[in-house]
Amino acid sequence: MTIGIIADLVVTGGTIVTPDTEYKAGIAIKDGKILAIGDQDAMPEAKETLDATGLHVLPGAIDVHVHFRDPGYPQKEDFASGTAAAAFGGVTTVFDMPNTLPAISDAKSLAEKHAIAGAKAHVDYGLYAVLGEDSLPNIGALIEGGVIGFKCYMGNTFGRIPSPTTGAMLELFEIVAPTGKRISLHAETNSIMERREARLRAMGRTDPLAHLAARPAVVATEAVARAAILSEWTGARIHILHISSAAELRPLAEAKARGVDITGETCPQYLLLSSDDYEEKCGVIRVNPPVRETENQDPIWQALVDGTIDMIATDHAPHSIEEKTREDIWTVDCGFPGVETQMPLMLTEVARRKASLSDYVRWSAEKPAKCWGLYPTKGALMVGSDADLAIVDTNREWTIDDANIQSTAKISPWHGMKATALPIHTIVRGCFAMKDRTLQDNAKGWGRSVHAIQEMPTPDVRNADQTMAAVTAPRKG
Ligand code: NCD
Ligand code: ZN
Repeated sequence: MTIGIIADLVVTGGTIVTPDTEYKAGIAIKDGKILAIGDQDAMPEAKETLDATGLHVLPGAIDVHVHFRDPGYPQKEDFASGTAAAAFGGVTTVFDMPNTLPAISDAKSLAEKHAIAGAKAHVDYGLYAVLGEDSLPNIGALIEGGVIGFKCYMGNTFGRIPSPTTGAMLELFEIVAPTGKRISLHAETNSIMERREARLRAMGRTDPLAHLAARPAVVATEAVARAAILSEWTGARIHILHISSAAELRPLAEAKARGVDITGETCPQYLLLSSDDYEEKCGVIRVNPPVRETENQDPIWQALVDGTIDMIATDHAPHSIEEKTREDIWTVDCGFPGVETQMPLMLTEVARRKASLSDYVRWSAEKPAKCWGLYPTKGALMVGSDADLAIVDTNREWTIDDANIQSTAKISPWHGMKATALPIHTIVRGCFAMKDRTLQDNAKGWGRSVHAIQEMPTPDVRNADQTMAAVTAPRKG
């Protein structure tokens, strides 16, 4: 017994999962941090204990890609419902995308979103800002105002944020590179898909598969390769969002082999759904990039296992039932909720494919924390880390029912799917956000922005003498 110290909470009887191993241990929490991990008998006295016998204790998941629609579209989702969904999914930190209304592209819109998130969030969060043609003069103020990173839309999507030209992208990368902030890319090349969509529409195609026909894998692959070249040239850190095809893996792996600071995520939809599902699920499955042919699934899984793809995120993109069930595929809003079902679905897939729970915590917690400089405050179960825990029953059979999800959007392609795991309790910095599958009201507003946790390591800026700023600087003499 640790003399004199009284913990706030001790979790006993559970199996702790780290990226390397699993072991039975107690875990003591004080002031929002992990105070001790070890033999149950060595745990300090505590104000509260939680019996986790038969359950697994994972670091809370960090979902680096969600759309909570606040401000602008509260009828689709707001920061309270979105973070409640996260809490139910064992997710303790989310990074929220900037395609809200207004879009987050200057200090004022960022400050307003911080106020909204700070008042409503049940879990911790980072806020993205847009990196677009118009945001160029605002980059410094956005970093000052507290962003986790930047989002660059190479292809148009919900919110109609225009994609910057390659020329603008290069200059934006030059400016962001020395700041060390990571740029997350919606890597789909606008000009290819716009052209194909126009032709398909002119032909009269309105069926669900026309969406996939407009966006074949080359749309994403070309964008990944181009972004990697700009990243290598400038030294800007980048992250490839929602990898959907086997074809993207080659430019990603090649850039990594060349030492480019590039990371990548995939989402459950690209592992668990395929083009065979369009007929039954119609517009519900419409998402950017599209769900593709089955033969992409195994290579994407393999890339997760071997580390080419670093992590799992969800692209949680809620829309209403009416917006998802329109006849004409081009009028259906793109995306669907996922933050709440990622952990159950992925743990089910981990069991089916005989990966390990350690693999899963690497993809869901450790890698996201490391790639955005939050590790080991976040993403780890270690003494001194934030006490962000997902306590999970990995032996629970249940069926996903859209009617029962926390998200305001009660429609998803996950409806009716069977899972074999369920988060039972979610703890954010020592406070229960969800306990016994019940939302803890007192946790609303507990969530905090994670942008200031740590400095990113010094970036490796390249070709600084050839940037737009360098070549247009007034000449000496
Ligand atoms: C997202 C949305 O609805 O905001 N939709 C989607 O299909 N993924 C936007 C995005 O991530 O591109
Ligand atoms: Zn997205």
